[in-house]
Amino acid sequence: MLKEKRAAEVAAILSKYPHERVRSAVMPLLYLAQEEYGFCTPDSMREIAQICSIDPTEVQSVAGFYTMYFEKPVGRHVVEICDDLPCVLRGADKLVDYAETKLGIRAGETTSDGAITLKVAMCLAACDRAPMCQVDLKYHYDLTREKFDDMVQELRK
Ligand code: FES
Repeated sequence: MLKEKRAAEVAAILSKYPHERVRSAVMPLLYLAQEEYGFCTPDSMREIAQICSIDPTEVQSVAGFYTMYFEKPVGRHVVEICDDLPCVLRGADKLVDYAETKLGIRAGETTSDGAITLKVAMCLAACDRAPMCQVDLKYHYDLTREKFDDMVQELRK
């Protein structure tokens, strides 16, 4: 249980919100759960719902809406290639194909060594530097096959 494993952090998060607005703690609690378990587990989402006095489906809808919450296990690094229209017009679809071949997985899967999860993403608001991807919290712009290869090499170190 998050309230037992991370009691101090849960209390710190809840202290930021007035009691009648405790539902606003959903997002930081989801981050905490993800940090603890590697992803937002069904049990952790149920617990967060209970902490925030809301329905579990509301917690699931928040986790499902934001791409930085993971609802299933992911690798140590998450590579999200934007495949929205402006990026595709600059070759993102071919980069996704290349990344799948290079990593030996399909988008949505994790490499067998657990190092990298490959995902595709909707517009990440960096269209002026398309094609681009997000690796964990960092953006990589003007992506090419060579840059992708260098990035993967770095991630596997
Ligand atoms: S379409 Fe890729 S960042 Fe906007």
